[in-house]
Amino acid sequence: MKGIVLAGGTGTRMHPITISVSKQLLPVGDKPMIYYPISVLIAAGIRDILVVTRPVDQRLFHALLGDGSHLGLNITYAEQAQPGGIAEALLLGADHIGNDDCALILGDNIFHGTAFARLLQKEAAQVDGCTLFGYRVQDPERYGVGVTDADGRLVAIEEKPRHPRSNRAITGLYFYDNDVIDIAKNIQPSARGELEISDVNAVYLSQGRAKLIDLGRGFAWLDTGTPAALLQAGQYVRTLEERQGVRIACLEELALRMGFIDADACHALGAAMVNSDYGDYVMNIAAEISGGDRTSWVHQGV
Ligand code: TTP
Repeated sequence: MKGIVLAGGTGTRMHPITISVSKQLLPVGDKPMIYYPISVLIAAGIRDILVVTRPVDQRLFHALLGDGSHLGLNITYAEQAQPGGIAEALLLGADHIGNDDCALILGDNIFHGTAFARLLQKEAAQVDGCTLFGYRVQDPERYGVGVTDADGRLVAIEEKPRHPRSNRAITGLYFYDNDVIDIAKNIQPSARGELEISDVNAVYLSQGRAKLIDLGRGFAWLDTGTPAALLQAGQYVRTLEERQGVRIACLEELALRMGFIDADACHALGAAMVNSDYGDYVMNIAAEISGGDRTSWVHQGV
C-alpha cells in the first residue's frame, strides 16, 4: 500500500499565522503537525509516502523530512498549485500509487488510541473498495457523516447534513483499492471548483464497496484547523506525554518498532537532536528496545 499525505491548502482559518508558514509545519506539542499523519502511515506499515504541498512550501517540508531514508521510508513530493480539493491528491499521486492500494491522510488530522497500529495493519491488508474511519462527534452537521444499518454496514454518506441521521463523522484517513485512480479521474469538480473526496467515496458506496470502521469512544481524533483547536490538540498531546513518559507520533520510535531502522540508527537520530527532550527520548527508546521487546507495541496508540 502507498501513502499520500495532503499538506497543501491555504489554512485561511489560521490567518495570519499561516500566511507565511504552512499549517502542517506548525507545532502540535513538541513536534510538527505533519509528524502525526506520517506516524499513522508508518503504523499501517507503509514506507512509500508522497507529501503533497503548495509549491512555495515544498522546500521546507523537504528540509524537515528529506527523502525519508533516515527513517527507512521513501518520501517523495508533489506540488498542488491551487487547493483543488482533497481528491486532487489522488490524481497528483496516480504514478506514485501505480498498481497498488492507497492510504490518503489529511496533513492536519491527529489520531491517537489504543491498538490503532493493529487496526491499521489489519485494514490495510484487506482493502476491497474503500475503508473509511468514523468518529463520534457532538456536532455532526459540520462534517460528512456515515449512516450505518443495524448490522453496522455503511448505507449512506451525508455531507454537512442539517438534520444528521448519524453522529459518526468521516475522518481524514481513507484506504482505497487501485480503482480509486479511475474513480478520481471521472468525478467532476464541485460548485466551488474542487474535486471532493466525498464524491469519490459516493462512487464506492453506490457500488456497495464502502466500509466504515468506528474508531470508538476511547479514541482521539483531533482537529487542528483553527488556533483554538491547535492549542487544544497541543495540550492533549502534552498531557498524555507528560503523564506517561511516552511520546505520540515519534517517527523515529515508530520506524524502529516497525523494523524500518535499527536501534543504532535510531540512537543516532536522537543524538542529532541532543539538546531537546525529544532527542533524549529517541535515544532512550533506542537503548530500551535494543535490549528488549518490541512485540507488545501494536497494542498501544501511535
Ligand atoms: P481544509 O481544512 O479544508 O483547508 P485548509 O487547510 O486550506 O484550511 P482553511 O479551511 O482554514 O482554509 O483542508 C483539510 C486538509 O487538506 C489540510 O491538511 C489541507 C489539505 N488540503 C490540501 O492539501 N489541498 C486542498 O486542495 C484542500 C482542499 C485541502
